[in-house]
Amino acid sequence: MMLKGKKGIISGALDESSIAWKVAERCHEEGAIFTLTNAPMAMRMGKINELGEKCNSKIIGADLTSVEDIENLYEDSLNELNGKVDFILHSVGMSPNVRKKKEYGDLNYEWLNKTLDVSAISFHKMLQVAEKKEVLNDWSSSVALSYVAAQRTFPFYSDMAEAKSLLESIARSYGYRLGKLNKSRVNTISQSPTITTAGSGISGFQSFFNYAEKMSPLGNATADECADYCIFLFSDLSKKITMQNLFHDGGFSSTGISEDIIDDFS
Ligand code: NAI
Repeated sequence: MMLKGKKGIISGALDESSIAWKVAERCHEEGAIFTLTNAPMAMRMGKINELGEKCNSKIIGADLTSVEDIENLYEDSLNELNGKVDFILHSVGMSPNVRKKKEYGDLNYEWLNKTLDVSAISFHKMLQVAEKKEVLNDWSSSVALSYVAAQRTFPFYSDMAEAKSLLESIARSYGYRLGKLNKSRVNTISQSPTITTAGSGISGFQSFFNYAEKMSPLGNATADECADYCIFLFSDLSKKITMQNLFHDGGFSSTGISEDIIDDFS
């Protein structure tokens, strides 16, 4: 029971393929108590209720681009959990440009703002409101999900690359601030391509999923494995890890080329 006695807030569980869904299941297994949150529109799909029942968790609707919604989310969560929180998962991303297949050279700038707000600035908002409302226990751990397109170009990832760079930068800046404040830590996990609703929305996803699988000496990291890593990061075993972007990708980010890929070209 690595998270016994810990309290948290988990965002972004849409259906059983969601990374956040797996994280919630694992947190429950490890003895944590937590609230679940998603955008009101996603909640209408109803799937998240199953997860709520399974994990004994209250579900609180919040559009994470809205400071007011986040304030309500925290107020409700602290009541429900009977105290401050030890961990927060940010597992939220969306790009209207990607959804509507706008090319990188033809971005709609209103949509770009939306991409950045939903996928990155929402993390700043969660942390800023948490600081102001004194929501976080000492040594709390906040984690957001990122992708290697923050460092290297993946053309099909479009403006989500900008969002991930910003997200990682926010984790660094806020990690410093909250570390000084009460030893709280903030990190991003740079996860392998994973077959989920958000993932599959990217064009050519299946091809780059297969490519990453062949490039990575350990193969792609699955959503379940990502959940295991989150448990470690939420636990007291990772107390001095902060302000990091942590690659959880089977070795993909450090590999130049693999024998499997060479074989494909010979
Ligand atoms: P998913 O589609 O299951 O989760 C995305 C979630 O974001 C959904 O639950 C959706 O309702 C929520 N969301 C969208 N707009 C929101 C808003 N305004 N307020 C609150 N929630 C909102 O997909 P997945 O893959 O589990 O995505 C989770 C995170 O993992 C995202 O940040 C994604 O970019 C990241 N990631 C995913 C990878 C993949 O290949 N699937 C690879 C690396 C990172």
